Amino acid sequence: MFETLEPQAPDALLGITTAFAADQSPDKVDLGVGVYRDASGATPVMAAVRQAEQMMLAEQISKSYVGMAGNRQFAAFIESMVLGDATVSALAGRVITLQTPGGCGALRLAAELVLRAAKTTQVVVSEPTWPNHVPLIGGTGLTMGHYPYYQVATGGVDFTALCSALDALAPGSLVVLHACCHNPTGADLSPTQWQTLVALFARRSLVPLFDLAYQGLGAGLEEDVYAIRLFAAQLPEMLVAVSCSKSFGLYRERVGAVMALASSARQAGILMGHLQIIARRMYSMSPDHGAAIVATIAHNLPLRQAWSDELASMRQRIRALRVGLASALGSVTGEPRFDFIKGQQGMFSLLGLSPAAVQALATEHHIYVAPDSRMNVAGLSEAKIEHVATAIGAVLGQ
Ligand SMILES: Cc1ncc(COP(=O)(O)O)c(C=O)c1O
Repeated sequence: MFETLEPQAPDALLGITTAFAADQSPDKVDLGVGVYRDASGATPVMAAVRQAEQMMLAEQISKSYVGMAGNRQFAAFIESMVLGDATVSALAGRVITLQTPGGCGALRLAAELVLRAAKTTQVVVSEPTWPNHVPLIGGTGLTMGHYPYYQVATGGVDFTALCSALDALAPGSLVVLHACCHNPTGADLSPTQWQTLVALFARRSLVPLFDLAYQGLGAGLEEDVYAIRLFAAQLPEMLVAVSCSKSFGLYRERVGAVMALASSARQAGILMGHLQIIARRMYSMSPDHGAAIVATIAHNLPLRQAWSDELASMRQRIRALRVGLASALGSVTGEPRFDFIKGQQGMFSLLGLSPAAVQALATEHHIYVAPDSRMNVAGLSEAKIEHVATAIGAVLGQ
């Protein structure tokens, strides 16, 4: 049977991890894989997470299944964290949330739901976008397309091009939006631009699928969900794929949630039924541990405060790294070319380097960024800024 299968090319980003591991240089820097690192280069277990785990170890009395929709305390917290309590109550039962294995699981479930509802739906993602969007969503069989997003010259969003592309979509198209901390560019929309966009969505009957993977790592826990709350208040339907991988540092625990906003409470109940059946047919039950950690933190005020304080310090660290790197690159190159890095949000910036320059960074300077020259700014440390800026300066001619 299996002789029919051809070898598969390894995932480009995982290839960087392998190359980085094989590099023997003491100066090597991994700015490829999208995980937060502290000043010592570690991806730490957050203090509130560790404490919650200790409490769970002492108190958990069963390992039985959590149920088809996952942990309900977790789901309620996600709704409150993402939408805010006022919006949740104003929506009067129109929103439902199901726990998923990570943000990836949420994106796939959202796409499967759309496929069930309207299988000819056109789905568009930003150009560029997180590379996994296309296989995760397009893997359902939905038709995928792109809309223009990034403006290389400014390091910002090409809002005019974005709006005219969305304006030309067929009504009912599904538009994947990064709620904050756009991956890979770091370029986000301003509140005013989101307001223009929500009016366009309403006018053109477009349906948003928000990908929320970095809440709290951009401008703040509340600021990072501005667009989602705005759209929820004004549109009849919306999907949100939430990941707790970065915001709680729970990457390997696979914690996420898919949220659906329907035009009525009755319709929301129907969507919940479909999502449960989709999950049942794909993997049956969600893993418990990670969602239970989030629920434990959510319902213990000191733990919740400790989590949000630690998240704030991570956010501030990334911001300081952005400012430091932009200034070091300014000194090395003698021009403001990289100033955009300090104005962007979240973990990533797209450096705009050629493939040859990306290659030279790795082979000559032991600095690893993604093949499209996406840098994980959160993988830097203050001590390495000078080295990284000098190396980027050195490969710029390539
Ligand atoms: C934009 C974006 N969406 C979703 C995810 C999904 O994350 P996970 O499945 O690990 O929760 C990621 C992770 O890197 C991401 O960058």
